[in-house]
Amino acid sequence: MLQELGLRYPIFQGGMAWVATGSLAAAVSEAGGLGIIGSGHAPAEYVKAQINIAKEQTDKPFGVNVMLLSPYVEEVIAVVAAAHVAVVTTGAGDPSRYLAQLQKAGSRVLPVVPSVALAKRMARSGVDGVIAEGMESGGHIGTMTTMALVPQVVDAVDIPVIAAGGIADGRGVVAALALGASGVQMGTRFLAASETLIHPRYQQAVVAAKDVDTLVTGLYVGHAARVLKNPMSRQYLRLEKRLAIEGGDMSAVEALGNGSLRIAVQEGDPERGSFMAGEIAGLIHDVRPAASILATIMQEAQQVAANDWRSRLVAP
Ligand SMILES: Cc1cc2nc3c(=O)[nH]c(=O)nc-3n(C[C@H](O)[C@H](O)[C@H](O)COP(=O)(O)O)c2cc1C
Repeated sequence: MLQELGLRYPIFQGGMAWVATGSLAAAVSEAGGLGIIGSGHAPAEYVKAQINIAKEQTDKPFGVNVMLLSPYVEEVIAVVAAAHVAVVTTGAGDPSRYLAQLQKAGSRVLPVVPSVALAKRMARSGVDGVIAEGMESGGHIGTMTTMALVPQVVDAVDIPVIAAGGIADGRGVVAALALGASGVQMGTRFLAASETLIHPRYQQAVVAAKDVDTLVTGLYVGHAARVLKNPMSRQYLRLEKRLAIEGGDMSAVEALGNGSLRIAVQEGDPERGSFMAGEIAGLIHDVRPAASILATIMQEAQQVAANDWRSRLVAP
């Protein structure tokens, strides 16, 4: 499928709500990956405008991520179908009711799946591939790790599997391909792309993060999300744990989280903003253009593939 799309590199830039604009997606697609616009809970006009920006900036294929829980999902699907977007990835559930419409418009549809069961159900419904996303990822997550999830999904379905979660360099790409993935999706690495117009405090927090600098909020509320440790996420977690122990009403925690990614992106306020990022942030040390990120990762991947670790697989 990746060859049919004409991608130079087997790398998707994950659609990220508020973060992945038409310009970022175009820059990634121009550089040989697949850029994906994040639509989040934005209205259809926003998504249309971002698609138009991407189309002005690249002739290469790009994608749109549709959040199925968005109040505007029907209108967003209509906009995406009318634009004949090459790839539609979906978050938060089962896109099968939109499948015929999107595939008729020429889109390949790849839902994000956190489990083998959902991957199998999606394959049966006729999707073009799945994105198996581990809980190392930034943003909303399931409970499986990428290392355990990807090979199990690969064995369970006969459609392409894209591995996501915890990948930010050539080693990660080769590892994912070794697990049987057809390609990878990266989000956190692209938070630190020059074309990503998030608040500098958010971007610098990603670059400064160490391996243990993320935590998972929302476990008790039912929508877990991985974010950087900051005053906001610590406060959220404290309140959430207290209410869970006391059996209190969780709506106060939900209210705290509402709009917090937008605040992180636009205002960079660590007291009120959820700086969503994955565990691999500790591996990211600089902000660079998307083209440089992709070229470096593919050079590293080729070096890793040519490395003498393969000799360790041969019995002495
Ligand atoms: C800030 C941020 C926002 C995200 N928003 C979305 C989203 O709206 N829809 C979605 O399907 N995935 C979303 N993701 C997940 C990414 O698309 C991608 O699958 C994930 O970041 C891969 O893991 P990594 O962060 O370890 O690279 C988001 C991730 C981040 C970091």
